[in-house]
Amino acid sequence: MKLLILGANGFIGSHLSEYILRHRPDWHITAMDLSDRHLSECLGHKQFHFTRGDITKHKDWIEAQVKVCDVVLPLVAIANPATYVKNPLAVFELDFEANLEIVRLCVRHKKRIVFPSTSEVYGISPDIPYDEESSMLATGPIAKERWIYSCSKQMLDRVIYAYGSHHGLDFTLFRPFNWFGPRLDNVWEEGKASRVVSQFLSNIVHKRDIVLVGGGGQKRCFLYVDDAIEALVRIIDNKDGCARGRIFNIGDPENEASIKELAEMMLEIVDASPGYKGIRAQINITAAKGEEHYGQGYQDVQRRVPKIGNAAKWLDWKPKTSLRNGIEKTIAYYLAQALRK
Ligand code: UGA
Repeated sequence: MKLLILGANGFIGSHLSEYILRHRPDWHITAMDLSDRHLSECLGHKQFHFTRGDITKHKDWIEAQVKVCDVVLPLVAIANPATYVKNPLAVFELDFEANLEIVRLCVRHKKRIVFPSTSEVYGISPDIPYDEESSMLATGPIAKERWIYSCSKQMLDRVIYAYGSHHGLDFTLFRPFNWFGPRLDNVWEEGKASRVVSQFLSNIVHKRDIVLVGGGGQKRCFLYVDDAIEALVRIIDNKDGCARGRIFNIGDPENEASIKELAEMMLEIVDASPGYKGIRAQINITAAKGEEHYGQGYQDVQRRVPKIGNAAKWLDWKPKTSLRNGIEKTIAYYLAQALRK
């Protein structure tokens, strides 16, 4: 199988590429990204062909690669809430406009597309859990600019689905629910972390207080990246067409925690790590008054639980890693990175 992975250097792309090179000796990856800093284990591998570049500029290269591959994974997107409110148009231009062009290339050249939707498409839908087939997709008012990400992704889900039903596009949509693990974000450079696990770790290692938006009672279901990649590879495998035309929530309903519980767990684990003894006492957990920690356009999601029956039934997949174990592995990775510096 020949895969085209756009955004291979990212959190999902780099873990996926490493997994494939280890476990699928007959697959070949052609990859593009702006940087290759997370691909040290992949570069030089005979199954891995990397080109440095910007998907919004190297359009001829992309079309040529789409023509000769079997499956396209467009993983380039802005996926951190701080940017949704600071630069919503950049989110629209990259996540929607640039990716729409890739979708259309897949339609034109009759290629299978495996596309990252998001748990955020469910927005503030009241359902628990969220069901791919029946849950309403509900977002906030226009002035709450956070929702531009959710709407951009939702519109692409709808476009891809329509190309599937009316033009025969072979597609699968997967919806990550708070995936985390090594390389999620850069915790060492100030201001670079963003999603909650890496943000909290960044606060801890820089000895800055942890801020709980809205008090930290909101909950998320976290999924460790190794489990996530296992599901994604089964989607790409597509045994007997099991993933064709389907939407999969990929998350772990068992790994639910409030954001406050997450902060406390992370502090406890770092405090027990060599070189960080006593750090717990140096960091306060403070509560931000409202939910506008990121700015006026932010609105939080109080609870988000995936129903994963589709993934269990069609992919024979279920997550294995507990939240605590996943957080321990993630923290161990980042702290070892500090020692190597
Ligand atoms: C995330 C992001 O939009 C995407 O990465 C992704 O598409 C999706 O959800 C997902 O992974 O399922 P969210 O879960 O709100 O959205 O993102 P985080 O930034 O990781 O925040 C989780 C919770 O922690 C939020 O309630 C947020 O307000 C809170 N938080 C975050 C804090 O209380 N303090 C912080 O410093 C950072």
